[in-house]
Amino acid sequence: MDSTDATDPDDRPDRPRLTVGPVHDAELPALVALWQACNLVMPYNDPLDDIAFARGRSHSEVLVGRLDGRPVASVMAGHDGHRGWLYYVAVDPTCRQQGLGTDIVTAGEDWLRRHGVRKVLLMIRETNTAVKAFYEKVGYNAVPRVVMERWL
Ligand SMILES: CC(C)(COP(=O)(O)OP(=O)(O)OC[C@H]1O[C@@H](n2cnc3c(N)ncnc32)[C@H](O)[C@@H]1OP(=O)(O)O)[C@@H](O)C(=O)NCCC(=O)NCCS
Repeated sequence: MDSTDATDPDDRPDRPRLTVGPVHDAELPALVALWQACNLVMPYNDPLDDIAFARGRSHSEVLVGRLDGRPVASVMAGHDGHRGWLYYVAVDPTCRQQGLGTDIVTAGEDWLRRHGVRKVLLMIRETNTAVKAFYEKVGYNAVPRVVMERWL
């Protein structure tokens, strides 16, 4: 991004900065509430099951971004032995447009990089394609792939 672009989050030195780390047990209710507030909880996914399956593993982690100790952002990062994936990218609706979404995506990418991953992928629901503009701002490209699924 052009360093003269006034909308670059890093051009705002006084903006809030996240402290990011693995989610703590005491933060689980707040994390689920964050995901609900961000419309990320689907009827077919139990968020607590998703957290339990991913957190603290050698290949995956659930990271929380905190402002003054309060969880306001999240990302689930993990890899499948080949590519890295990001899920549950979220910023509290009252804290958006200040660069925190960029920060939490960067934190997820950093986690993947530390675990040897060279390319990161993510999926956007068809009902949420407006968020594509956000990911483009933070350096992602849409790729022509068809994702298929089957419950096991
Ligand atoms: C997407 C989300 C994480 C962005 O968080 P944020 O803190 O507002 O992001 P940032 O402030 O870092 O925004 C970075 C840039 O993207 C832009 N942007 C952010 N959200 C956007 C959106 N929904 N549509 C278009 N542009 C967006 C910002 O304006 C900013 O642009 P700028 O650099 O020109 O100022 C947040 O809106 C969110 O939690 N959404 C609901 C959950 C969701 O849809 N997650 C993604 C699931 S795939």
